[in-house]
Amino acid sequence: MERWVRSQLRLWLLLLLLPPVPGCQKESGSKWKVFIDQINRALEIYEPCSSQNCSCYHGVIEEDLTPFRGGISRRMMAEVVRRKLGTHYQIIKNRLYRENDCMFPSRCSGVEHFILEVIGRLPDMEMVINVRDYPQVPKWMEPAIPVFSFSKPHFSKVLGPVISHEALSEEQIEAPIHQSTMISCILLGHFGKEDPLFGQYILPVLDGGTSSEKTWSAAQWPWKKKNSTAYFRGSRTSPERDPLILLSRKSPKLVDAEYTKNQAWKSMKDTLGKPAAKDVHLVDHCKYKYLFNFRGVAASFRLKHLFLCGSLVFHVGDEWLEFFYPQLKPWVHYIPVKTDLSNVQELLQFVKANDDVAQEIAERGSQFILNHLQMDDITCYWENLLTEYSKFLSYNVTRRKGYDHIIPKILKTEL
Ligand SMILES: *[C@@H]1O[C@H](CO)[C@@H](O)[C@H](O)[C@H]1NC(C)=O
Ligand SMILES: *[C@@H]1O[C@H](CO)[C@@H](O)[C@H](O)[C@H]1NC(C)=O
Ligand SMILES: *[C@@H]1O[C@H](CO)[C@@H](O)[C@H](O)[C@H]1NC(C)=O
Repeated sequence: MERWVRSQLRLWLLLLLLPPVPGCQKESGSKWKVFIDQINRALEIYEPCSSQNCSCYHGVIEEDLTPFRGGISRRMMAEVVRRKLGTHYQIIKNRLYRENDCMFPSRCSGVEHFILEVIGRLPDMEMVINVRDYPQVPKWMEPAIPVFSFSKPHFSKVLGPVISHEALSEEQIEAPIHQSTMISCILLGHFGKEDPLFGQYILPVLDGGTSSEKTWSAAQWPWKKKNSTAYFRGSRTSPERDPLILLSRKSPKLVDAEYTKNQAWKSMKDTLGKPAAKDVHLVDHCKYKYLFNFRGVAASFRLKHLFLCGSLVFHVGDEWLEFFYPQLKPWVHYIPVKTDLSNVQELLQFVKANDDVAQEIAERGSQFILNHLQMDDITCYWENLLTEYSKFLSYNVTRRKGYDHIIPKILKTEL
């Protein structure tokens, strides 16, 4: 089998080297023309963001807040807090307070880091922040209710059976997302302290670049040195990843994709009938030219890291969003792949045959993240979002008894 593939590959290479047969070339040229035209069209209509005031994301804020134009009442907020849809925060006189419970303390730290950066400029407000991966707005909640979350389903799309996976807790299964309430999720960047980005990208910035042992390895793997087998490692948080794993088993030279264990792993059934592969750090994905991004339980929070590798991102489906996704455009910054992966082989053939075009897309993708998703951009996004959000509260916030006063954590560099 493998020998057959290799001989096919050799034949194909030989054909490439031969002087083109006129009719033949026209056919293959027109095959890729569809993609080339698509890229050119996308570039024509693309308007790059200004790098001023993180203005890239103003549209997202406006859209996410639209359902609350009528105001958020004290009663509505009390109900959201009572339902425990997230962690309750209050900002009063430029101080931050939080209820004692936080399901993921490290993610709360991430949230608090950004709020405390700008707390001196924030008006009084209170909000509920869902720090889980999955949005927590239950079906019966109508109209929209204000819960901040890290990602949300793209509401113009019909939701797939996202509640079917065992990785979801019972509690999550009891609170299915209903399409009409999707807009009640306000997007935040997912930058918890356990997030690899925090270590690889944010921490060095926080430390003023002193944590040199953790530098991002894009520079180590320039385009020409990258391996052109498409690559994926991740757990089976969604069966949407299965077709790629199966393709890899069939064509290992084309795609190297394997499932790793997640916490819910019980048997090989959870890794599609094969032993689990070892976890591979996102930094070590950088040596591959083509990297895949799938949704997980909700949005996959790895997308930004893949771009930072300087690799070409194959972004599968578009059902889930983080706040910066709307500014990332298919064909401009990444290769869009159908959710069922039916076009993936063709797309891989296209990028292999058009390496310079592929490299340009990869370059634009990583430049976008570097220019618009730095710490300052994220902090600015938080400030704009919270400032705008606070305008919709139709009451004066009163401090709850027993809440913790959250103070800035002293950074290493300040010791
Ligand atoms: C950006 O912020 C500066 C200072 O806060 C302000 O003067 C300027 O008008 C803002 N620009 C835009 C495009 O909002
Ligand atoms: C590229 O990666 C594939 C899959 O991981 C591997 O089998 C192959 O040996 C690598 N090629 C080179 C040139 O390193
Ligand atoms: C909130 O407090 C301010 C100043 O204390 C007061 O002027 C305003 O009327 C209050 N607003 C509401 C809705 O109670």
